[in-house]
Amino acid sequence: MAEPINVVVSGAAGQIAYSLLYQLAAGTVFGQEQPINLRLLDIPPMMGILKGVVMELEDLALPLLNDILPTADPEAAFKDAAAVFLLGAMPRKEGMERKDLLAANVKIFKVQGEALDKFAKKDVKIVVVGNPANTNALICSHYAPSIPKENFTAMTRLDQNRAQALLASHLGVEVSNVTNVVIWGNHSSTQYPSTAYAKVKTNNSSKPVSEVIDDENWLNTEFVERIQKRGAAVIAARTMSSAMSAAKAAGDHMRDWWIGTKPGEFVSMGVTSDGSYGIPKDIIFSLPVTIKNKKYEIVQGLFISSFAQSKLDITAKELEEERAEANAVLKQ
Ligand code: NAI
Repeated sequence: MAEPINVVVSGAAGQIAYSLLYQLAAGTVFGQEQPINLRLLDIPPMMGILKGVVMELEDLALPLLNDILPTADPEAAFKDAAAVFLLGAMPRKEGMERKDLLAANVKIFKVQGEALDKFAKKDVKIVVVGNPANTNALICSHYAPSIPKENFTAMTRLDQNRAQALLASHLGVEVSNVTNVVIWGNHSSTQYPSTAYAKVKTNNSSKPVSEVIDDENWLNTEFVERIQKRGAAVIAARTMSSAMSAAKAAGDHMRDWWIGTKPGEFVSMGVTSDGSYGIPKDIIFSLPVTIKNKKYEIVQGLFISSFAQSKLDITAKELEEERAEANAVLKQ
């Protein structure tokens, strides 16, 4: 059995964490041979609730769970961290403007970035889930200059999973038979879910979606809109934001980063833009990636139609605006 690794979950008393922690303890993310030490970070008023979460984790009686530390101290949480899930963020309250939300999150992700910089392993893998996820990841990375930028990612895997599931259901195939759906841009309603490179397996052969769908127009209209608005639809129905599906997506994101993607398949992650596809550099933009030996590479050479380009421009503009707002707060 390998040595245990330190895995941090911030927002550990919250609803996404409640679903994610079981996956981590059960070995679905880091594998059945990898014991883990859980570092559970939340704010002081949540320590009582967190105590209950720790009791439940103990009661799981799972052999891969080596040690658990509940804490409100980022330094204690991030010490020797190998993998980090940043779920905790300031929620948007009624009447709060986007810039107020960003300002509150800048403070949280500054403290966490600085603690990561000082205490985490230099090859730590960080996925930011707390919204606005892409810009929070950018801020966090800014305050952790000793950790490579590529180690900071934002989660758009829930959007990818939603898109894959919707497409599979529309085509009447099993969800595992749909691959290579891409989420471009921000984890917000400006994201662009694209099926241009998606493949569908039918009778042991893999075909582009365009060859198996009758109503291609649906892909550029209703499909895009339903994925962009799915998060809001869940909130409207459940009166709380997606949690079980968000936790599953966070696990998928980290598992693929840790273990790698399957040959011929790519997944979407918010990563620091290197200028590929004409996207402005140094924003965290969701792009298709392949992963090998715990390193991801942005998939190159995909054809971008003028329709797709217009969608990419919209979401890139929003991310540039968020970056400008965050920078304005940082300068204060
Ligand atoms: P929640 O409100 O149930 O839990 C959030 C937890 O974070 C709370 O326990 C809170 O005390 C904690 N927290 C707040 N500030 C903190 C700090 N400075 N350090 C550590 N912990 C802190 O929220 P939930 O449902 O678990 O969602 C978490 C975040 O994930 C939200 O920002 C939500 O908008 C976002 N989200 C992102 C998705 C994505 O696809 N990227 C999908 C769904 C939710």
